[in-house]
Amino acid sequence: MRTYISDLKDHIGEEVTLKGWVYNYRASSKKIKFLILRDGTGLCQCVYFKGECEEEAIELFSEVTQEACVEVTGVPRIEERSPGGVELGAQKLKILSKTVDYPITPKEHGTDFLMNHRHLWLRSKKQHAALRVRAELISAIRDFFNGDGFTLVDAPIFTPSSCEGTSNLFETNYFDDKAYLSQSGQLYMEAAAAAFGKAYCFGPTFRAEKSKTRRHLIEFWMVEPEVAFNDLYDNMELAEKFVEYIIQRTIKNKAEELKILERDTSGLEKIKGEFPRLHYKEAVEIIKKENPNFIDGDDFGGTDETIISSKFDKPVFVHHFPSAIKAFYMKEDENEKGYSLSCDMLGTDGYGEIIGGGQREESIDVLQDKIKEHNLDMKDFQWYLDVRRYGSFPHSGFGLGIERTVAWICGLPHIRETIPFPRMYGRLHP
Ligand code: 4AD
Ligand code: MG
Repeated sequence: MRTYISDLKDHIGEEVTLKGWVYNYRASSKKIKFLILRDGTGLCQCVYFKGECEEEAIELFSEVTQEACVEVTGVPRIEERSPGGVELGAQKLKILSKTVDYPITPKEHGTDFLMNHRHLWLRSKKQHAALRVRAELISAIRDFFNGDGFTLVDAPIFTPSSCEGTSNLFETNYFDDKAYLSQSGQLYMEAAAAAFGKAYCFGPTFRAEKSKTRRHLIEFWMVEPEVAFNDLYDNMELAEKFVEYIIQRTIKNKAEELKILERDTSGLEKIKGEFPRLHYKEAVEIIKKENPNFIDGDDFGGTDETIISSKFDKPVFVHHFPSAIKAFYMKEDENEKGYSLSCDMLGTDGYGEIIGGGQREESIDVLQDKIKEHNLDMKDFQWYLDVRRYGSFPHSGFGLGIERTVAWICGLPHIRETIPFPRMYGRLHP
């Protein structure tokens, strides 16, 4: 029988067998040897004492190498200084598979080297911790929507048309036809909102962005709720409640991992209740004081977002972006021509845009004009226009980027460490 390291506390004083990989080892003297075992659930210090363990184990120790696959039998005991608060009084050792020259050593490596060895880098403490935070975040997201009356409706990955503009579409063959990798499931969620009232999709989305920034991936995961009869303000309320839930739950359940990542979570703990809301024009006033080159009417760049978020200790909504810089489906505010019922949420600590969304245009005539204005092909959108033809209704939704949220929670400077195998401009391997 094999025991997991995470369960050792329940087996104090009993003989157990652990299976895993050698994270580190130290032959301090002829009499005492240390082996740090890693099994995916945690790390365990295994101590071999000559005289107390099998003689064979002491002999075999000279063949131990970093990341060799081993089986260790011994008796767990409380040791507060050890990782996990337990150490193993080891008795037996079996080497299941040897390793020669494991490429990632405890010395410093460059980012490019580590990214080329991403498949191995995942075994390292901090990478492991960040991906466990990601897994918890995803689970919190699903629980929030499933517990709030939403139906999960999976959107397709192959799509016939664009959602977020044509400049970063990934084109691919679809037998004799052309298809695009989905930029967003939103248009499908609008149809789903008419069928289910409250719907969400959660999947990979693709943007062929030829830029290398710390916030952009080519393939990223997005969760997109859409709610019938919600307006812009209901939408911001939903986003606020949602972000509070997923942040608080993740920092509570993954406190150990966040400690490994050396993330001070005191700022994140304050993310509760109402978030400040700025009209685009108010946000521009703030930006212009520090970035006089900003042109009114433009979209925000990374530094502009940082200027705004540095003024608050909670995430901030910016709403009413100019219609001219937003997608075709955004509804214009009837009382403020030229400005849309859009909203972005900016994370704290300079993490920038986490959420983008807003209220959708429900008039078929206006939408047809918008499709033409954006030079999109009307025939590709006939199914989408049907949502307006047959019982049109006000509705709103948003998309939250998983990787940006993981980077923010973990305090990681670059998005590349927030997804197991990142796809970035100039990187497809491994
Ligand atoms: O603002 P975006 O483009 O909005 C949409 O796609 C809407 N259709 C969503 C909706 O209303 N249903 O993207 C939403 C979020 C961004 O706020 C950001 O967190 C993330 O997706 N995102 C990216 N994350 C990583 N790499 C990229 N290239 C990203 N582009 C957007
Ligand atoms: Mg956006």
